Amino acid sequence: MKLTIFGTGYVGLVTGACLAEVGHNVVCIDVDQRKIDALKAGIIPIWEPGLEAIVKRNVAEQRLRFTTDVAEAVRHAEVQFIAVGTPPDEDGSADLQYVLAVAESIARHMPAYRVIINKSTVPVGTADKVAARVDAVLAERGAPIPFDVVSNPEFLKEGAAVGDFLKPDRIIIGTRSAAAQERMRELYEPFNRNHERTLFMDVKSAELTKYAANAMLATKISFMNEMANMAEILGADIEEVRKGIGADPRIGYHFIYPGCGYGGSCFPKDVQALGRTADQIGYHAPLLKAVEAVNTRQKTVLFDKLASHFGGSANLRGKTVAVWGLSFKPNTDDMREAPSRTLMEALWAAGARVQAFDPVASAEARRLYGERPDLQLYDSKYAALQGADALAICTEWQQFRAPDFEEMKHMMSTAVIVDGRNLYSPVRMQRDGWDYYGIGRPR
Ligand code: UGA
Repeated sequence: MKLTIFGTGYVGLVTGACLAEVGHNVVCIDVDQRKIDALKAGIIPIWEPGLEAIVKRNVAEQRLRFTTDVAEAVRHAEVQFIAVGTPPDEDGSADLQYVLAVAESIARHMPAYRVIINKSTVPVGTADKVAARVDAVLAERGAPIPFDVVSNPEFLKEGAAVGDFLKPDRIIIGTRSAAAQERMRELYEPFNRNHERTLFMDVKSAELTKYAANAMLATKISFMNEMANMAEILGADIEEVRKGIGADPRIGYHFIYPGCGYGGSCFPKDVQALGRTADQIGYHAPLLKAVEAVNTRQKTVLFDKLASHFGGSANLRGKTVAVWGLSFKPNTDDMREAPSRTLMEALWAAGARVQAFDPVASAEARRLYGERPDLQLYDSKYAALQGADALAICTEWQQFRAPDFEEMKHMMSTAVIVDGRNLYSPVRMQRDGWDYYGIGRPR
Protein backbone atom coordinates (compact mmCIF):
# COMPACT_ATOMS: atom_id res chain seq x y z
CA MET A 1 0.00 0.00 0.00
CA LYS A 2 1.29 3.49 -0.80
CA LEU A 3 1.54 5.93 2.13
CA THR A 4 2.72 9.48 2.71
CA ILE A 5 3.91 10.80 6.06
CA PHE A 6 4.17 14.52 6.76
CA GLY A 7 6.82 15.26 9.38
CA THR A 8 10.07 13.36 9.92
CA GLY A 9 10.31 14.04 13.62
CA TYR A 10 10.19 11.33 16.20
CA VAL A 11 6.68 10.06 15.47
CA GLY A 12 6.77 10.55 11.70
CA LEU A 13 10.09 8.87 11.17
CA VAL A 14 9.33 5.86 13.37
CA THR A 15 5.90 5.49 11.74
CA GLY A 16 7.32 5.79 8.22
CA ALA A 17 10.19 3.40 8.81
CA CYS A 18 8.05 0.77 10.56
CA LEU A 19 5.27 0.90 7.97
CA ALA A 20 7.91 0.42 5.25
CA GLU A 21 9.38 -2.43 7.28
CA VAL A 22 6.10 -4.40 7.04
CA GLY A 23 6.04 -3.88 3.28
CA HIS A 24 4.26 -0.60 2.52
CA ASN A 25 5.66 1.91 0.05
CA VAL A 26 6.30 5.06 2.08
CA VAL A 27 7.22 8.63 1.21
CA CYS A 28 8.27 10.83 4.15
CA ILE A 29 8.09 14.56 3.61
CA ASP A 30 9.43 17.44 5.68
CA VAL A 31 9.81 21.18 5.13
CA ASP A 32 13.33 21.03 6.59
CA GLN A 33 15.61 20.53 3.58
CA ARG A 34 18.68 19.85 5.73
CA LYS A 35 16.90 17.11 7.64
CA ILE A 36 15.73 15.48 4.41
CA ASP A 37 19.22 15.71 2.90
CA ALA A 38 20.66 14.10 6.03
CA LEU A 39 18.07 11.32 5.98
CA LYS A 40 18.81 10.66 2.31
CA ALA A 41 22.46 10.33 3.30
CA GLY A 42 21.47 7.79 5.99
CA ILE A 43 21.91 10.17 8.95
CA ILE A 44 19.15 9.73 11.53
CA PRO A 45 18.41 12.94 13.46
CA ILE A 46 17.31 11.20 16.68
CA TRP A 47 18.82 8.52 18.86
CA GLU A 48 16.37 5.63 18.96
CA PRO A 49 17.47 2.00 19.27
CA GLY A 50 16.87 -0.01 16.08
CA LEU A 51 15.64 2.91 14.00
CA GLU A 52 18.77 3.51 11.94
CA ALA A 53 18.91 -0.11 10.79
CA ILE A 54 15.33 -0.21 9.56
CA VAL A 55 15.56 3.20 7.89
CA LYS A 56 18.67 2.11 6.00
CA ARG A 57 17.26 -1.28 5.04
CA ASN A 58 13.99 0.13 3.74
CA VAL A 59 15.69 2.94 1.85
CA ALA A 60 18.02 0.37 0.23
CA GLU A 61 15.06 -1.86 -0.66
CA GLN A 62 13.22 1.18 -2.06
CA ARG A 63 10.19 1.03 0.19
CA LEU A 64 11.11 4.29 1.96
CA ARG A 65 11.87 7.66 0.33
CA PHE A 66 12.42 11.18 1.62
CA THR A 67 11.37 14.38 -0.10
CA THR A 68 10.51 18.04 0.40
CA ASP A 69 8.23 18.10 -2.66
CA VAL A 70 4.68 18.55 -1.34
CA ALA A 71 2.87 18.03 -4.64
CA GLU A 72 4.70 14.76 -5.26
CA ALA A 73 4.05 13.56 -1.70
CA VAL A 74 0.32 14.25 -1.92
CA ARG A 75 0.11 12.57 -5.33
CA HIS A 76 2.02 9.52 -4.09
CA ALA A 77 -0.67 7.97 -1.91
CA GLU A 78 -4.34 7.88 -1.08
CA VAL A 79 -3.41 7.66 2.60
CA GLN A 80 -1.72 10.73 4.08
CA PHE A 81 -0.43 10.86 7.65
CA ILE A 82 0.02 14.09 9.59
CA ALA A 83 2.84 13.57 12.10
CA VAL A 84 4.11 17.07 12.74
CA GLY A 85 4.76 18.75 16.09
CA THR A 86 2.10 20.22 18.36
CA PRO A 87 4.24 22.27 20.77
CA PRO A 88 2.53 23.90 23.75
CA ASP A 89 1.76 27.57 23.18
CA GLU A 90 2.09 30.21 25.94
CA ASP A 91 -0.93 28.95 27.90
CA GLY A 92 -0.11 25.23 27.58
CA SER A 93 -2.65 24.44 24.84
CA ALA A 94 -1.37 22.43 21.88
CA ASP A 95 -0.38 24.72 19.01
CA LEU A 96 -2.06 23.39 15.87
CA GLN A 97 -0.49 25.66 13.26
CA TYR A 98 1.75 22.93 11.80
CA VAL A 99 -1.03 20.34 11.68
CA LEU A 100 -3.37 22.77 9.92
CA ALA A 101 -0.65 23.88 7.49
CA VAL A 102 -0.20 20.25 6.42
CA ALA A 103 -3.98 19.84 6.03
CA GLU A 104 -3.93 22.86 3.76
CA SER A 105 -1.06 21.47 1.66
CA ILE A 106 -2.86 18.17 1.20
CA ALA A 107 -6.05 19.98 0.17
CA ARG A 108 -4.17 22.15 -2.30
CA HIS A 109 -2.61 19.22 -4.13
CA MET A 110 -4.99 16.27 -3.77
CA PRO A 111 -6.15 15.01 -7.17
CA ALA A 112 -8.73 12.53 -5.79
CA TYR A 113 -10.07 10.94 -2.56
CA ARG A 114 -7.66 11.09 0.38
CA VAL A 115 -7.67 9.62 3.88
CA ILE A 116 -6.00 12.18 6.13
CA ILE A 117 -4.74 10.58 9.31
CA ASN A 118 -3.85 12.57 12.40
CA LYS A 119 -0.96 10.90 14.19
CA SER A 120 0.17 13.98 16.07
CA THR A 121 -1.17 14.29 19.61
CA VAL A 122 -3.97 16.78 19.16
CA PRO A 123 -6.80 18.02 21.38
CA VAL A 124 -10.29 16.65 20.98
CA GLY A 125 -11.96 18.47 18.10
CA THR A 126 -8.84 18.82 15.96
CA ALA A 127 -10.10 16.40 13.29
CA ASP A 128 -13.04 18.76 12.79
CA LYS A 129 -10.64 21.68 12.38
CA VAL A 130 -8.56 19.72 9.89
CA ALA A 131 -11.69 18.83 7.92
CA ALA A 132 -12.84 22.47 7.93
CA ARG A 133 -9.46 23.62 6.64
CA VAL A 134 -9.46 21.02 3.87
CA ASP A 135 -13.04 21.94 2.93
CA ALA A 136 -12.11 25.61 2.74
CA VAL A 137 -9.17 25.01 0.41
CA LEU A 138 -11.15 22.61 -1.79
CA ALA A 139 -13.92 25.21 -2.06
CA GLU A 140 -11.32 27.80 -3.06
CA ARG A 141 -10.04 25.39 -5.71
CA GLY A 142 -13.61 24.72 -6.84
CA ALA A 143 -12.79 21.02 -6.49
CA PRO A 144 -15.42 19.02 -4.55
CA ILE A 145 -13.10 16.06 -3.89
CA PRO A 146 -14.16 13.61 -1.15
CA PHE A 147 -11.88 12.97 1.84
CA ASP A 148 -11.96 11.55 5.36
CA VAL A 149 -10.12 12.66 8.46
CA VAL A 150 -9.08 9.84 10.80
CA SER A 151 -7.61 10.02 14.30
CA ASN A 152 -4.90 7.40 14.85
CA PRO A 153 -2.90 8.39 17.95
CA GLU A 154 0.47 6.82 18.66
CA PHE A 155 1.51 5.14 21.91
CA LEU A 156 5.26 4.92 21.35
CA LYS A 157 7.70 5.13 24.23
CA GLU A 158 10.97 6.83 23.49
CA GLY A 159 13.79 4.32 23.58
CA ALA A 160 11.39 1.49 22.73
CA ALA A 161 9.51 3.12 19.85
CA VAL A 162 10.38 0.63 17.11
CA GLY A 163 9.30 -2.33 19.24
CA ASP A 164 6.16 -0.52 20.39
CA PHE A 165 5.22 0.26 16.79
CA LEU A 166 5.86 -3.23 15.46
CA LYS A 167 4.16 -4.95 18.41
CA PRO A 168 1.38 -2.58 19.49
CA ASP A 169 -0.88 -3.28 22.50
CA ARG A 170 -3.68 -1.68 20.53
CA ILE A 171 -4.23 0.38 17.41
CA ILE A 172 -6.78 3.13 17.99
CA ILE A 173 -8.65 4.32 14.94
CA GLY A 174 -11.21 7.08 15.11
CA THR A 175 -13.51 7.20 12.11
CA ARG A 176 -17.07 6.27 11.26
CA SER A 177 -16.46 6.35 7.48
CA ALA A 178 -16.64 2.91 5.87
CA ALA A 179 -14.20 3.90 3.11
CA ALA A 180 -11.62 5.12 5.62
CA GLN A 181 -12.10 2.06 7.83
CA GLU A 182 -11.39 -0.21 4.89
CA ARG A 183 -8.10 1.60 4.12
CA MET A 184 -7.09 1.58 7.79
CA ARG A 185 -7.81 -2.12 8.07
CA GLU A 186 -5.62 -2.85 5.05
CA LEU A 187 -2.88 -0.54 6.31
CA TYR A 188 -2.62 -2.21 9.73
CA GLU A 189 -3.38 -5.75 8.55
CA PRO A 190 0.28 -6.86 9.00
CA PHE A 191 0.00 -6.07 12.74
CA ASN A 192 -3.20 -8.04 13.27
CA ARG A 193 -2.14 -11.45 11.97
CA ASN A 194 -2.04 -13.13 15.38
CA HIS A 195 -4.90 -11.34 16.98
CA GLU A 196 -6.98 -8.29 16.25
CA ARG A 197 -5.44 -5.23 17.85
CA THR A 198 -7.46 -2.56 16.10
CA LEU A 199 -10.18 -0.70 17.97
CA PHE A 200 -12.47 1.38 15.79
CA MET A 201 -14.30 4.24 17.48
CA ASP A 202 -15.57 7.73 16.74
CA VAL A 203 -13.02 10.45 16.09
CA LYS A 204 -13.43 12.37 19.35
CA SER A 205 -13.11 9.26 21.49
CA ALA A 206 -9.89 8.34 19.68
CA GLU A 207 -8.51 11.83 20.24
CA LEU A 208 -9.39 11.71 23.93
CA THR A 209 -8.01 8.15 24.32
CA LYS A 210 -4.50 9.42 23.66
CA TYR A 211 -4.66 12.13 26.33
CA ALA A 212 -6.48 9.91 28.79
CA ALA A 213 -3.80 7.20 28.49
CA ASN A 214 -0.92 9.60 29.14
CA ALA A 215 -2.78 11.45 31.90
CA MET A 216 -3.61 8.13 33.61
CA LEU A 217 0.04 7.05 33.53
CA ALA A 218 1.20 10.45 34.77
CA THR A 219 -1.39 10.23 37.56
CA LYS A 220 -0.01 6.87 38.68
CA ILE A 221 3.46 8.37 38.89
CA SER A 222 2.42 11.54 40.74
CA PHE A 223 0.34 9.44 43.12
CA MET A 224 3.35 7.26 43.93
CA ASN A 225 5.56 10.29 44.38
CA GLU A 226 3.05 11.71 46.84
CA MET A 227 3.04 8.38 48.74
CA ALA A 228 6.85 8.33 48.66
CA ASN A 229 7.10 11.76 50.24
CA MET A 230 4.66 10.72 52.95
CA ALA A 231 6.48 7.41 53.50
CA GLU A 232 9.68 9.35 54.11
CA ILE A 233 8.10 11.43 56.85
CA LEU A 234 6.27 8.44 58.34
CA GLY A 235 9.37 6.21 58.33
CA ALA A 236 7.92 3.68 55.86
CA ASP A 237 9.70 2.33 52.76
CA ILE A 238 7.92 3.18 49.49
CA GLU A 239 9.66 0.30 47.71
CA GLU A 240 7.92 -2.16 50.03
CA VAL A 241 4.66 -0.29 49.56
CA ARG A 242 5.12 -0.37 45.77
CA LYS A 243 5.46 -4.14 45.76
CA GLY A 244 2.62 -4.46 48.21
CA ILE A 245 0.15 -2.55 46.08
CA GLY A 246 1.47 -3.74 42.71
CA ALA A 247 0.63 -7.32 43.65
CA ASP A 248 -3.03 -6.40 43.35
CA PRO A 249 -3.76 -7.00 39.65
CA ARG A 250 -6.25 -4.15 39.72
CA ILE A 251 -3.30 -1.84 40.42
CA GLY A 252 -0.46 -3.68 38.70
CA TYR A 253 3.30 -3.15 38.82
CA HIS A 254 3.66 -0.86 35.82
CA PHE A 255 4.27 2.86 36.16
CA ILE A 256 4.23 2.96 39.94
CA TYR A 257 7.94 3.68 40.34
CA PRO A 258 8.48 6.73 42.51
CA GLY A 259 11.31 9.02 41.47
CA CYS A 260 12.47 12.57 40.85
CA GLY A 261 9.47 13.36 38.64
CA TYR A 262 8.36 12.50 35.13
CA GLY A 263 9.80 14.34 32.15
CA GLY A 264 9.87 13.99 28.39
CA SER A 265 7.95 15.51 25.56
CA CYS A 266 4.65 13.78 26.31
CA PHE A 267 3.46 13.54 29.91
CA PRO A 268 4.17 17.14 30.94
CA LYS A 269 2.79 18.55 27.68
CA ASP A 270 -0.25 16.29 27.46
CA VAL A 271 -1.34 16.65 31.09
CA GLN A 272 -1.05 20.40 30.69
CA ALA A 273 -2.94 20.42 27.38
CA LEU A 274 -5.75 18.28 28.80
CA GLY A 275 -5.96 20.72 31.72
CA ARG A 276 -6.30 23.57 29.22
CA THR A 277 -9.04 21.67 27.41
CA ALA A 278 -10.87 21.33 30.74
CA ASP A 279 -10.58 25.10 31.25
CA GLN A 280 -11.82 25.80 27.75
CA ILE A 281 -14.93 23.67 28.19
CA GLY A 282 -15.54 25.22 31.60
CA TYR A 283 -14.94 21.98 33.49
CA HIS A 284 -13.15 22.13 36.84
CA ALA A 285 -10.48 19.36 36.73
CA PRO A 286 -8.63 19.46 40.06
CA LEU A 287 -7.11 16.00 39.63
CA LEU A 288 -5.29 16.90 36.42
CA LYS A 289 -3.95 20.11 37.94
CA ALA A 290 -2.74 18.21 40.99
CA VAL A 291 -0.89 15.63 38.88
CA GLU A 292 1.05 18.45 37.29
CA ALA A 293 1.65 20.35 40.53
CA VAL A 294 2.92 17.22 42.33
CA ASN A 295 5.32 16.57 39.47
CA THR A 296 6.65 20.13 39.43
CA ARG A 297 7.37 19.84 43.14
CA GLN A 298 8.87 16.37 42.77
CA LYS A 299 11.49 17.64 40.35
CA THR A 300 12.95 19.70 43.18
CA VAL A 301 13.38 16.85 45.69
CA LEU A 302 16.97 15.99 44.72
CA PHE A 303 18.07 19.57 45.21
CA ASP A 304 16.18 19.81 48.51
CA LYS A 305 17.86 16.64 49.77
CA LEU A 306 21.30 17.94 48.84
CA ALA A 307 20.58 21.31 50.44
CA SER A 308 19.38 19.71 53.63
CA HIS A 309 22.34 17.31 53.77
CA PHE A 310 24.78 20.20 53.56
CA GLY A 311 22.86 22.27 56.13
CA GLY A 312 21.00 24.64 53.78
CA SER A 313 21.23 25.76 50.17
CA ALA A 314 23.67 28.56 51.06
CA ASN A 315 26.20 25.85 51.89
CA LEU A 316 26.03 24.46 48.33
CA ARG A 317 28.01 27.46 47.10
CA GLY A 318 31.35 26.22 45.82
CA LYS A 319 30.36 22.54 46.14
CA THR A 320 30.82 20.10 43.27
CA VAL A 321 27.92 17.74 42.51
CA ALA A 322 28.30 14.80 40.13
CA VAL A 323 25.14 14.06 38.13
CA TRP A 324 24.57 10.64 36.60
CA GLY A 325 21.94 10.63 33.85
CA LEU A 326 20.77 13.71 31.99
CA SER A 327 18.07 12.34 29.69
CA PHE A 328 14.51 12.18 31.04
CA LYS A 329 14.74 8.38 31.03
CA PRO A 330 17.20 5.71 29.85
CA ASN A 331 17.78 4.80 26.19
CA THR A 332 17.21 8.25 24.80
CA ASP A 333 19.20 11.47 24.48
CA ASP A 334 16.04 13.53 24.97
CA MET A 335 16.37 16.06 27.79
CA ARG A 336 13.01 17.78 27.36
CA GLU A 337 11.52 18.49 30.81
CA ALA A 338 14.14 16.17 32.32
CA PRO A 339 14.45 16.25 36.14
CA SER A 340 18.24 16.58 35.66
CA ARG A 341 17.65 20.06 34.27
CA THR A 342 15.67 21.26 37.27
CA LEU A 343 18.41 19.92 39.52
CA MET A 344 21.35 21.38 37.60
CA GLU A 345 19.71 24.77 37.20
CA ALA A 346 18.96 24.92 40.93
CA LEU A 347 22.54 23.89 41.74
CA TRP A 348 23.94 26.60 39.50
CA ALA A 349 21.62 29.18 41.03
CA ALA A 350 22.98 28.14 44.44
CA GLY A 351 26.57 28.54 43.24
CA ALA A 352 27.48 24.85 42.92
CA ARG A 353 29.38 23.19 40.06
CA VAL A 354 28.08 20.18 38.13
CA GLN A 355 30.17 17.30 36.77
CA ALA A 356 27.80 15.29 34.60
CA PHE A 357 27.81 11.98 32.79
CA ASP A 358 25.20 10.52 30.48
CA PRO A 359 25.82 7.61 28.09
CA VAL A 360 24.24 9.46 25.13
CA ALA A 361 22.90 12.89 26.10
CA SER A 362 26.14 14.92 26.47
CA ALA A 363 25.78 16.50 23.04
CA GLU A 364 22.22 17.49 23.86
CA ALA A 365 23.37 19.02 27.17
CA ARG A 366 26.03 20.99 25.31
CA ARG A 367 23.43 22.19 22.81
CA LEU A 368 21.11 23.30 25.64
CA TYR A 369 23.61 24.89 27.98
CA GLY A 370 26.66 25.67 25.82
CA GLU A 371 30.05 26.11 27.43
CA ARG A 372 29.79 27.28 31.00
CA PRO A 373 32.33 27.11 33.79
CA ASP A 374 29.95 25.40 36.22
CA LEU A 375 29.18 22.45 33.91
CA GLN A 376 31.72 19.79 33.00
CA LEU A 377 30.61 16.84 30.88
CA TYR A 378 32.50 13.58 31.18
CA ASP A 379 32.58 10.47 29.04
CA SER A 380 32.54 7.96 31.87
CA LYS A 381 30.50 7.71 35.05
CA TYR A 382 33.60 7.44 37.21
CA ALA A 383 35.41 10.40 35.63
CA ALA A 384 32.46 12.60 36.62
CA LEU A 385 32.98 11.66 40.30
CA GLN A 386 36.51 13.04 40.72
CA GLY A 387 36.55 15.38 43.71
CA ALA A 388 32.75 15.55 43.92
CA ASP A 389 31.07 16.41 47.21
CA ALA A 390 27.98 14.40 46.28
CA LEU A 391 26.50 12.27 43.52
CA ALA A 392 22.93 12.79 42.27
CA ILE A 393 21.32 10.10 40.10
CA CYS A 394 18.61 11.37 37.74
CA THR A 395 18.21 8.55 35.21
CA GLU A 396 18.28 4.78 35.75
CA TRP A 397 20.68 3.79 32.96
CA GLN A 398 21.61 0.09 33.29
CA GLN A 399 25.28 0.88 33.89
CA PHE A 400 24.41 2.76 37.11
CA ARG A 401 22.80 -0.26 38.74
CA ALA A 402 25.87 -1.99 40.18
CA PRO A 403 28.84 0.40 40.26
CA ASP A 404 32.04 -0.18 42.20
CA PHE A 405 31.15 1.64 45.40
CA GLU A 406 34.57 1.15 47.00
CA GLU A 407 36.33 2.80 44.05
CA MET A 408 33.75 5.55 44.06
CA LYS A 409 34.53 6.46 47.66
CA HIS A 410 38.16 7.03 46.74
CA MET A 411 37.17 9.30 43.86
CA MET A 412 34.71 11.50 45.70
CA SER A 413 35.61 13.90 48.46
CA THR A 414 32.55 12.95 50.51
CA ALA A 415 30.47 9.77 50.27
CA VAL A 416 27.02 11.25 49.61
CA ILE A 417 24.47 9.94 47.12
CA VAL A 418 21.00 11.31 46.38
CA ASP A 419 19.31 8.72 44.24
CA GLY A 420 16.28 9.89 42.25
CA ARG A 421 15.59 6.37 40.96
CA ASN A 422 15.97 4.16 44.05
CA LEU A 423 18.68 2.01 42.50
CA TYR A 424 20.41 0.79 45.67
CA SER A 425 19.56 -0.77 48.98
CA PRO A 426 19.59 1.83 51.79
CA VAL A 427 20.65 -0.84 54.27
CA ARG A 428 23.67 -1.85 52.25
CA MET A 429 24.66 1.74 51.50
CA GLN A 430 24.51 2.66 55.16
CA ARG A 431 26.53 -0.42 56.10
CA ASP A 432 29.18 0.59 53.56
CA GLY A 433 29.50 4.06 55.01
CA TRP A 434 27.51 6.15 52.53
CA ASP A 435 25.17 9.00 53.26
CA TYR A 436 22.48 7.64 50.96
CA TYR A 437 19.15 9.34 50.24
CA GLY A 438 16.58 7.56 48.08
CA ILE A 439 13.01 8.66 47.31
CA GLY A 440 10.52 7.64 49.99
CA ARG A 441 12.92 5.32 51.80
CA PRO A 442 14.09 5.16 55.40
CA ARG A 443 17.65 6.20 56.16
C1 UGA B 1 4.97 8.19 27.08
C2 UGA B 1 3.99 7.00 27.14
O1 UGA B 1 4.50 5.99 28.00
C3 UGA B 1 3.77 6.43 25.73
O2 UGA B 1 2.79 5.40 25.79
C4 UGA B 1 3.27 7.55 24.82
O3 UGA B 1 3.08 7.10 23.50
C5 UGA B 1 4.29 8.67 24.81
O4 UGA B 1 4.48 9.16 26.14
C6 UGA B 1 3.78 9.76 23.90
O5 UGA B 1 2.73 10.34 24.20
O6 UGA B 1 4.35 9.96 22.83
P1 UGA B 1 7.64 8.48 26.99
O7 UGA B 1 7.38 9.92 27.29
O8 UGA B 1 8.55 8.13 25.89
O9 UGA B 1 6.25 7.72 26.67
O10 UGA B 1 8.26 7.84 28.30
P2 UGA B 1 7.78 6.93 29.52
O11 UGA B 1 8.51 5.65 29.48
O12 UGA B 1 6.32 6.87 29.59
O13 UGA B 1 8.35 7.76 30.76
C7 UGA B 1 7.91 9.09 31.04
C8 UGA B 1 8.50 9.60 32.33
O14 UGA B 1 7.90 8.98 33.44
C9 UGA B 1 10.01 9.38 32.49
O15 UGA B 1 10.61 10.56 32.97
C10 UGA B 1 10.09 8.27 33.50
O16 UGA B 1 11.27 8.31 34.26
C11 UGA B 1 8.88 8.54 34.36
N1 UGA B 1 8.37 7.36 35.07
C12 UGA B 1 7.86 6.30 34.38
C13 UGA B 1 8.38 7.32 36.46
O17 UGA B 1 8.85 8.27 37.12
N2 UGA B 1 7.89 6.22 37.10
C14 UGA B 1 7.37 5.16 36.44
O18 UGA B 1 6.91 4.21 37.11
C15 UGA B 1 7.36 5.21 35.04
